[in-house]
Amino acid sequence: MVGLLKKRGETYRNSRLAATALNVHHPAYRGEYLRLMTRHWADWGRLPESVKTGLPLDHDEPDEPDYRRRFTWAMHHRTLETAPKIAAQIDLRGARTLLDLGGGPGTYAMAFLAKNPVLRATVCDRPAALDVAKEIASTHKTAPRLSYLPLDVMVENIPGAYDVIWYSNVLHIYSSQENQAVFRRAAAALNLGGRLLIQDAFLHDRDGLFPEEASLFAVSMLLFTERGNTYKAAETKAWLTDAGFERIKVLRMKKGTEDWEGGILEARTPGANAKMRARRAGSVRSSRSRSSH
Ligand SMILES: C[S@@+](CC[C@H](N)C(=O)[O-])C[C@H]1O[C@@H](n2cnc3c(N)ncnc32)[C@H](O)[C@@H]1O
Repeated sequence: MVGLLKKRGETYRNSRLAATALNVHHPAYRGEYLRLMTRHWADWGRLPESVKTGLPLDHDEPDEPDYRRRFTWAMHHRTLETAPKIAAQIDLRGARTLLDLGGGPGTYAMAFLAKNPVLRATVCDRPAALDVAKEIASTHKTAPRLSYLPLDVMVENIPGAYDVIWYSNVLHIYSSQENQAVFRRAAAALNLGGRLLIQDAFLHDRDGLFPEEASLFAVSMLLFTERGNTYKAAETKAWLTDAGFERIKVLRMKKGTEDWEGGILEARTPGANAKMRARRAGSVRSSRSRSSH
C-alpha cells in the first residue's frame, strides 16, 4: 500500500496525497519536482562518466528556455511547503525591500511578502524563470508588491538598493571565485546595515564532510554543473568578510522546517553608525596628521 488510492466498497478514490500533490489542478501539485527527481535517478546511474571526465552530464542547459521553465516549476514544487516555514522564522521587521537573487519561481519572495505586509520584493533571475514567477504570482495576493529583474548576476552588477538580499540555493551552482564576485555585487546593492541571507547545503564540520546530505549534494553538482560544489560555512564566512560584510552568523531554523540541515548564513553591510565612526576616526586622524606637520 503506497497510500495513493482509497477503496470503499467497489469504488476507488484518490487519497488526500494523490488528490493534492499529484493533481495538476491543485495548488499543492508537486509533479515537476517528482519529474526532476525521476530524471536524476537515471542521471546518478551515469556518475562514472562524470567521475572519469570531470565534466557534468550533457543535458543541463541553463539558458535553454524550455529547460529553465520546467526546472523553475520544479523549484516551486520543491519549496512550496518549506518557504512559508522559513519566512515565519526570519525577522524582517524594519526591512522595506528584499531582493530574491536567483529567486526562480519567487516562492520565497512571496512567502516573505505574505509574512511581512509592508515589504516589497523583487525576484531576480533569467527571463524564462521570471515568466514562471509571474504566472505563479498571478494567483497570489502579494503580487502587487512583487517586481521582476531579469539579470545574469555572474556578469552584471545589481541595480537598486535593498534592505535584504535572499540568496537561496544558488551558491552551490558556482565556484568560490564566482560566489565571491556575487557577494561583492550584493554588498554594493545593499543599504547601510543591509542583510545578505544565504540558504544552501553548507558543510558545518571542520573537515567539510557533514551533514551527509551536503556532501552527497556535491556529487549532484559534479553531475549537473560546470563549477558547482557545496561549501563549508566557515569558508563562506571568510569570503563574506573579504567582500566587506560583518556581524556574520548562522541563523538556526527549527528542526524539521529547514531546507538544509544546519542553518542559514546572515551577514550585514556596515551600518550608518559604523560609517560615521569610520568618518570620525578619519577626521581625527587627518586633524592629527595636519597638526603634526
Ligand atoms: C536551484 S535554483 C534556486 C531557486 C530558489 N532561489 C530556491 O531556493 O528555490 C537556482 C536559481 O538561480 C538562478 N540562477 C543561476 N545562475 C544565475 C545567474 N547567473 N543569474 C541569475 N540567476 C541565476 C537559476 O536560474 C535558478 O532559478
